[in-house]
Amino acid sequence: MGVMHIPGHEKQGPREVGLDEIREVMGDCRLCQLCQTRTNIVFGTGNPHARVMFVGEAPGKHEDLQGEPFVGRAGENLNGILSLAGLVREDVYIANVLKCRPPQNRNPLADEVLACSPFLREQIRSVWPDVIVTLGNPATHFVLKTEIGITKLRGRFHQMGHFVVMPTFHPAAALRNPAWQELLEADFRMLGKYLAEHPQGEPRVDGAAQSDALPRLGE
Ligand code: URA
Repeated sequence: MGVMHIPGHEKQGPREVGLDEIREVMGDCRLCQLCQTRTNIVFGTGNPHARVMFVGEAPGKHEDLQGEPFVGRAGENLNGILSLAGLVREDVYIANVLKCRPPQNRNPLADEVLACSPFLREQIRSVWPDVIVTLGNPATHFVLKTEIGITKLRGRFHQMGHFVVMPTFHPAAALRNPAWQELLEADFRMLGKYLAEHPQGEPRVDGAAQSDALPRLGE
């Protein structure tokens, strides 16, 4: 997948490009069919220098209407469990794999992910967090470059180049499954412990599965 060129930047190294510059390149994006049905592009919100970045799947109905990620019921769930990790919403940055709502909230299609993901890659490089929390399968598959399901991957940290990645259940799915909600909450407590025990700016997980599958993100 090519690297998206941001005008005015030659190298686009960590934290070199501002989120506003990426948003400007996105403009009134027409790269996939979702532009025809969206109300608003949902780019992402939060602390541009966050230590923890969350990646969801795609905007739902409320996000599409308001232009902000995780403002519906899934967002309420997320806001509630952030405190288990010692975080509040203003601390973190939140974005999705897709920036536009798929009709009827269907799963993202491969060509939509392909078209949209360069924006997410640049957002991650801009924020350059210590920890990326992937919410659900599409976000996890994109960031960890695997097809393995979330139930097998969650409950531990994965080192992905520079980043520590914590895959966990999507807060919307957990609302429909109390056992998953418990595991989601356990993962957020694990995240809080990690943040408290590791110095900021040195994201390392001892014994974590190493992968170089995202060289442009982690180099
Ligand atoms: N689900 C997501 O994956 N993202 C949102 O922004 C809202 C719901």
